[in-house]
Amino acid sequence: MGLSFQPVYCTMHCSRFLLLLSISTLWGQPWALEEPHGSELRSLSRELLKSAREPEFFDWMRGIRRRIHQYPELGFQEQRTSQLVRSELDSLGIEYTWPVAETGIVASIGSGSEPVFALRADMDALPLQELVEWEFKSKVDGKMHACGHDSHVAMLLGAAKLLHKRKDELKGTIKLVFQPGEEGYAGAYHMLQHGVLDDLNGIFFIHVLPSYPTGVIASRPGTILAGAGLFSITVRGKGGHAATPHHNRDPILAAAFTILALQQIVSRETDPLEARVVTVGFIEGGKAGNVIPEYVKFGGTYRSLTSEGLSYIQDRIKEVIRLQAAVHRCDAEVEFMEKTPLPYPVVVNNEALHEHAKKVGETLLGEQNVQLLPVTMGSEDFGFFSQKIPAAVFVLGIKNESLKSDRALHSPFFFVDEEALPIGAALNAAVAISYLDDNIVDTY
Ligand SMILES: *[C@@H]1O[C@H](CO)[C@@H](O)[C@H](O)[C@H]1NC(C)=O
Ligand SMILES: [Zn+2]
Ligand SMILES: [Zn+2]
Repeated sequence: MGLSFQPVYCTMHCSRFLLLLSISTLWGQPWALEEPHGSELRSLSRELLKSAREPEFFDWMRGIRRRIHQYPELGFQEQRTSQLVRSELDSLGIEYTWPVAETGIVASIGSGSEPVFALRADMDALPLQELVEWEFKSKVDGKMHACGHDSHVAMLLGAAKLLHKRKDELKGTIKLVFQPGEEGYAGAYHMLQHGVLDDLNGIFFIHVLPSYPTGVIASRPGTILAGAGLFSITVRGKGGHAATPHHNRDPILAAAFTILALQQIVSRETDPLEARVVTVGFIEGGKAGNVIPEYVKFGGTYRSLTSEGLSYIQDRIKEVIRLQAAVHRCDAEVEFMEKTPLPYPVVVNNEALHEHAKKVGETLLGEQNVQLLPVTMGSEDFGFFSQKIPAAVFVLGIKNESLKSDRALHSPFFFVDEEALPIGAALNAAVAISYLDDNIVDTY
């Protein structure tokens, strides 16, 4: 707790405690003690949610989401989406910096002074054919918003509108980060290189997730998502006739042994209580049954919940493939595609910021609707932010079985329950406003 904050907490808490005690004595009810500012926070978040659910507000936000959904754009190609965001910000009268990493935008609302709190939305789609038949289906063959980033943008613009209405009461600055290229392009990393995000005291992000029903949010303190990288391996032998293996060096057999050997990095060299993944996801080699090819390529992903784990796996991949290939008189080399830049760092939720957002979520949705999210080995380039700035990510439920919005992220059947949009907008805005109100920057 910050020193300046504590006396306020105590005074408020004590007077309310006495008041509640007398009421509870009167009516004999088990009254729950409120947190400091509890009722203010409750009325703030309820008001924000009510505004975001007004039919006109909701239609506007849903319209934005649907327009983006119809014209999905891949990483660093989000020209049209970026244009749409800028024109909405222009109509609202909100200032912004652009371009930040090609198509990225950073809008700014509030006093212009510290503390500075950021809300982030990613903007890119996936190279995937949408298979949901509905009025606002993707109009671009082979591209789809199957990770819900269209709804993230709509919710952040929703938050922009809510915040702009209260801009004169904000006790600091809120930056809205519209980020390109999350799906493998490390857009977060590139935005951080620009400089416009150097002054952040904290950053918050909402990702939709179909494992939870609409009206539920979830998260956890500390490590929440894995760090992840890609590898691509080439095993080189000597090609020739399949009938004369002794004149050749067979890269198919070498690759087969190498792939098996890579599996031992997790099963034999990793503490069984620690989570790591090595997956080979593709193999390309040879064209004919009577030819031994010159080379075989294969590759995949490696993941860990620690950065030490990531670099350990990298080092061992290098050693294992070289030595395994050598057993079979072949050579092997690995490319980690680090210029992209990869790997994505582990995503860690700052404990105090997580606690703050959880409290806000509870006032917005009720305690039973804020759940504990299990750690998963998925990854997010939000890790570049969490590595540098106190950060928190929450997932927002979108499941409604009657809408079939229970399909997995990255599925061609993925579908968003748009009733979640006002919740996301209000949560974004409430987390940011109350962060500045409480000046909890001191507590990190
Ligand atoms: C699911 O969506 C339908 C159609 O919009 C709606 O009538 C229903 O109330 C929703 N169910 C829940 C649990 O929100
Ligand atoms: Zn995704
Ligand atoms: Zn995503």
